[in-house]
Amino acid sequence: MTESTSIPIGGRAAGCPFAPVAELYDAQKDEELHRVTVPSPMLGAFDAVVVTRYEDVKSVLADDQLRMGGSMPYQAGNLLSYDGPEHTRLRRMLTGSFTAKRARELRPQIEGAVASALDALTEAGPGADLVQVFCTPIPTLVICELLGVPYGDREDFQRRTAVALDFNTSREVQMQKAAEMEAYMAGLVARHREDPGENVLGRVVRDFGDQLTDSELAGIGNMLLIAGHETIASTLSASIALLLQHPDQLAVVRDDPSVTEGAVEELLRYCAPAAILPRQASGNICVRDQEIKEGERVMASVLAANRDPGTSDQGLDRLDVRRPAQRHLTFGFGPHQCLGQQLARMELRVALPALFTKFPTLRSAVPDDELDYRTNALVFGVNSLPVTW
Ligand code: HEM
Repeated sequence: MTESTSIPIGGRAAGCPFAPVAELYDAQKDEELHRVTVPSPMLGAFDAVVVTRYEDVKSVLADDQLRMGGSMPYQAGNLLSYDGPEHTRLRRMLTGSFTAKRARELRPQIEGAVASALDALTEAGPGADLVQVFCTPIPTLVICELLGVPYGDREDFQRRTAVALDFNTSREVQMQKAAEMEAYMAGLVARHREDPGENVLGRVVRDFGDQLTDSELAGIGNMLLIAGHETIASTLSASIALLLQHPDQLAVVRDDPSVTEGAVEELLRYCAPAAILPRQASGNICVRDQEIKEGERVMASVLAANRDPGTSDQGLDRLDVRRPAQRHLTFGFGPHQCLGQQLARMELRVALPALFTKFPTLRSAVPDDELDYRTNALVFGVNSLPVTW
């Protein structure tokens, strides 16, 4: 194992944040695993073993001795706070609401949300900020409908989410925002206990309400609300910014519907919005015969793994929306693999072609090097994306 070097927490290159920092590429080539110091206002600077190869990231995420528990503040009901049988028990209560079939059934609702965002963009006119008018409203509307959260409450929960996911937020403020979110959700849980209705939260209350405390139900609601809008909004903003910088690739997405599914996978691979996934070893383990000791932190770099050429050079540093299906780890791997991935895919598949078809001459209203990327948060994206057409 190498001596510690310092890398930025998201591991993204300055000036070209779709690419990993050089240190991660170096680490990928090295037979020895690298130990890094990660500066984090949330947790204080800490040392961690960083894994960057595709196979190593997969094996780390699948290893039940590498736990979420130690690396995240505990929140009742949030799947990312649990491991082992407790995690399985809770996750099973939710999987039925997030299948590929369920995502297909939601397509008309998603198309409705996309259509109203496109109308809002037409009304706002050239100069509009796509993040405000398009990328954020679509997943927010969809998740509000899925959970039975009033859409009118969005500004409050969006603001709290932004603070909660910012790397620069202190642990104290994190806990305060978590308490505010829990108080907000408590009201919603009480309403669903009385009248569950047909949405996701209602279904959990109806089928498993007697096995869950109010605080666990509030945690489930919060996790889905945060994960359900912020991740997709960020992925949409990053994907659109990237395509606007690659007009040839954008034209393919706009003009050839047969590539949509593959193009979405390629954008997910390339953008890797949740670039780094933290774990903590609950026992001594080995990755490629190198020991990681109990208590050590491990950072799995999805961003680097998604570009790992393995044994053959497949040009994975290049964006190619016609690329044959590629393995990527953007939704994680193993027991914590993203619960909402089918919903996310469906939203991206509907929203991206619809935007470029309705606005075929869409382009960025600011030079590429002035784009305001969000590199300081758990989920990478673009803070604002002014466009013209
Ligand atoms: C493009 C959008 C999305 C991306 C890139 C993404 C990414 C991820 C990743 C990487 C993980 C694994 C975290 C880890 O192992 O440490 C995860 C877990 C999770 N995601 Fe997503 N996600 C997205 C959308 C969604 C949506 C729409 C929902 C819900 C409506 C959702 C709900 C969850 C939940 C509940 C977990 C925790 C699963 C568990 O611990 O068992 N995600 N997501």
